[in-house]
Amino acid sequence: MKRSDIALWAAALILAPTLWPSAGRAGTAADDYQNYCAQCHGTMGTGQGINETAGGLSVSPRSHINAEEMSKLSDEDLRLGIAEGGDALQKSGLMPPWGKTLSSENIDELVIYLRKLCKCVGKQ
Ligand code: HEC
Repeated sequence: MKRSDIALWAAALILAPTLWPSAGRAGTAADDYQNYCAQCHGTMGTGQGINETAGGLSVSPRSHINAEEMSKLSDEDLRLGIAEGGDALQKSGLMPPWGKTLSSENIDELVIYLRKLCKCVGKQ
């Protein structure tokens, strides 16, 4: 084996775990948030994602760090809104449904993540 081949194999072995995440999991809630939510809700959850700051949304995405607003919703409401979109909460359809993209386990973890962002508990 040529030296350059060995270097290539070594690089492939190092990269493999990053390229093939463990089967069946989209990633951690923090990853899911950055991948699927941040474009509207912002990387920090302030509601200032690129879709909002570019002036494209007629209804502003919720700031997930707003404890007062976020505590008006139960965890079950959050789950429903994430899975079925804004319509399911009688809110704007600009909030997309994620139930076909994310597993219910992923959504449960996102609810926990949102509660950390708002530092609040849901309506009981
Ligand atoms: C295309 C833009 C967009 C994306 C992407 C998006 N949202 Fe939203 N989201 C919105 C908008 C707009 C609202 C506000 C709806 C309203 O107030 O009528 C909203 C509202 C919500 C609400 C309801 C908050 C409340 O107080 O009623 C939750 C929960 C939520 N989003 C979570 C998420 C999560 C989690 C993701 C990623 C999996 C996500 N959103 C991705 C646009 C988006």
